[in-house]
Amino acid sequence: MVPWDGRGALGGGGGFPHRMIMEIYEQPKALEDTMVKEDDEVRRVAEIIDQRRCELIYITGSGTSYHAGLAGGYALSTLTGMITSTIPASEFESWIPPSIPRRSLLLAISQSGESSDILEAAKAASGRGIMVVALTNTPGSPLAEVSDHVLLTHAGREYAVAATKTYTAQLSILYMLSLELARLTGLAPWSVEELRASLSSTPRLAREALMMNDKPIEGLAYRFRQSNYFFLLGSGPNYATALEGALKLKEACNIYAEGFAAREFLHGPIQLISGGTPSIFIAAGEDVKRLMRLALSIKGFGAPLIPVSDRPEGLSAVSQEVVRVPGGLPGIFSPIIFIIPLQLFAYYGSKARGLDPDRPEKLRKVVR
Ligand code: BG6
Repeated sequence: MVPWDGRGALGGGGGFPHRMIMEIYEQPKALEDTMVKEDDEVRRVAEIIDQRRCELIYITGSGTSYHAGLAGGYALSTLTGMITSTIPASEFESWIPPSIPRRSLLLAISQSGESSDILEAAKAASGRGIMVVALTNTPGSPLAEVSDHVLLTHAGREYAVAATKTYTAQLSILYMLSLELARLTGLAPWSVEELRASLSSTPRLAREALMMNDKPIEGLAYRFRQSNYFFLLGSGPNYATALEGALKLKEACNIYAEGFAAREFLHGPIQLISGGTPSIFIAAGEDVKRLMRLALSIKGFGAPLIPVSDRPEGLSAVSQEVVRVPGGLPGIFSPIIFIIPLQLFAYYGSKARGLDPDRPEKLRKVVR
């Protein structure tokens, strides 16, 4: 259990043994700061997008930033009816047509604003006359320089290689932008004001997720310290959570972990399931019922199942031990909270394997 005053960042290391866990615990504050400090700029950029009558939003990023783009694309299209296309930054130029319709936009996401792939993607879009909006944690970064507009996450500098606080802060900006565009276009299927109130509860829910999970996840990670293969299954916006949770396990624990869109798992990969492949089953709200048959199949093949859910009572048929996340958030925003126990699992898994979670030996914070 880490020392924590329950408020968020403790500053100067604050007694945390590693940067990664300190940054995981800084998330409530990073969310709060980002939502307060960037509100005006998000509104301004949303107005510009609305005035240009953009119909297609390309989204790009690498690694964690790409996963934020997937979850953000889900929110943007669900709330505004706009078409979104999320493409990994390294593939962006080859996947887009030589001439993009002018009423499209590129959202270029990068914590550092320095990765060479994101810079190439932004330049490719600019070269085709497309407006580029950067979403970065680094004002004045090369990405900010080459973009038409910049939205900032206010997460503070992130030192650990495995991105945590910048991921949830990126999600908060993408959700704010989705809500503002939904308000301007009047196309939101639900009340924008109610959704805004839900989003503003995420710092509190993130705190709760940390408090309720720290100790149990430490124990869980220790129990699974000898497992070298994990499957993570998630649906809707939590497909992104499955990919991001798997990336954290690869980066911090040096093990093979793969994320899937839940039912895609049935189309081939389930062949690999066995007693040695624990499966993390991410089920938000109604997904618990919708995906129950899949969970039962996995359990039937003898794989240990680790459900992560805001409806733990619905999962007693598949596991006595459910990782709980606080409820009350609409599914569309749930990735912000659902990733938190998976970040903790990766951190404690790294420690349990005797690794340094802050310094995966083959990785760099920025790929140039
Ligand atoms: C990789 C890191 O090098 O870059 C990932 O290992 C990170 O953790 C990715 O998500 C993208 O970085 P950035 O700064 O462009 O968001």
